[in-house]
Amino acid sequence: MPVSGTIEESTAQTAHATPESPSADVLRPHAEQTFAAELAALAAADDRPRPVNWRLSPWAVSLYLLGGTLPDGTVITPKYVGPRRIVEVAVTTLATDRALLLLGVPGTAKTWVSEHLAAAVSGNSTLLVQGTAGTPEEAIRYGWNYARLLAHGPSREALVPSPVMRAMRDGTTARVEELTRIPADVQDTLITILSEKTLPVPELGEEVQAVRGFNLIATANDRDRGVNELSSALRRRFNTVVLPLPATADAEVDIVSRRVDQLGRSLDLPAVPEGVEEIRRVVTVFRELREGVSADGRTKLKSPSGTLSTAEAISVVTGGLALAAHFGDGVLRPGDVAAGILGAVVRDPAADRVIWQEYLETVVRERDGWKDFYRACREAGV
Ligand SMILES: Nc1ncnc2c1ncn2[C@@H]1O[C@H](COP(=O)(O)OP(=O)(O)OP(=O)(O)O)[C@@H](O)[C@H]1O
Ligand SMILES: [Mg+2]
Repeated sequence: MPVSGTIEESTAQTAHATPESPSADVLRPHAEQTFAAELAALAAADDRPRPVNWRLSPWAVSLYLLGGTLPDGTVITPKYVGPRRIVEVAVTTLATDRALLLLGVPGTAKTWVSEHLAAAVSGNSTLLVQGTAGTPEEAIRYGWNYARLLAHGPSREALVPSPVMRAMRDGTTARVEELTRIPADVQDTLITILSEKTLPVPELGEEVQAVRGFNLIATANDRDRGVNELSSALRRRFNTVVLPLPATADAEVDIVSRRVDQLGRSLDLPAVPEGVEEIRRVVTVFRELREGVSADGRTKLKSPSGTLSTAEAISVVTGGLALAAHFGDGVLRPGDVAAGILGAVVRDPAADRVIWQEYLETVVRERDGWKDFYRACREAGV
């Protein structure tokens, strides 16, 4: 028996007020808002069968993620840059009765992919539970509006549904971020939801049965002491898809350039093309330190403690671009990214500083065409 009431309806309205037309002042519109035009064009061009309650067919969802051109010439920008098969498996999983677990080291676009999948499949990426060590059961099941509960006792009106309950009721996609940070007993509330597809509400003698189209995308960071803590009963309800680090430096430069360009536009920063050289340097430095060997394979390096992921490279370049815009001539130069790189690499002031210095002197200093970058890094405060 579906549970519905005035409270949940009013929250639902504020939560996705006008998904298609975000206010111009919103700092970060949801994926379905930012890419509303692409999603509409895909829906119009999509003549393949759509699973019940899906906005698009699995084929169109993966085209939305991977990018391409529609027959009418509409360009779909790539959201995820990586192996096509990964996206196909992820999308297909959502059309089965198993939930999707996106696993990977930090900054491999788990959250990003999960948001875009929910936007493309259900047109709503906002049904989100953020997993933390303190996530209570109510965040996954339902809570109560205590004023109403005290005044009228348990009733549908007093019940506050979780994002998962709303997704079950509407047949849409729910998201759980950082699943393995959630305490094990709370995680296990997902078992009934995922296997029986129902959420009992004993206080009302009712249950919410999931409508077709409901599924769940969870993300987990495999650096977090963790995924082992997922009980085997729960793990069996998930199909796990591992998101890899970008395979080549070119792919990573491409990802960073695209995202910096997008972020820069929303922050009114200058366009990126002038800075491509610096982006390549940031990516090279991060990859070499991450992999513990110089790009030519000749010098072994120690890796610093911080995770030098693509996501960090994106922040360093965006930060550099802001410096260039506000205090420089708008062109990204070595001096604009040096401080950011230092901040990302040197997390532990003692050990990481030594590693960084060694890297600067043995690799950066000797590299052709990197003199200005070497100088900027030295000046940034070795
Ligand atoms: N392969 C990729 N394709 C497109 N974007 C990528 C890729 N890898 C990283 N990014 C970008 O990196 C940024 C960070 O990604 P995201 O926050 O989703 O990482 P995450 O895997 O969830 O990390 P964490 O484990 O720290 O939560 C996003 O802006 C995303 O666009
Ligand atoms: Mg994440």
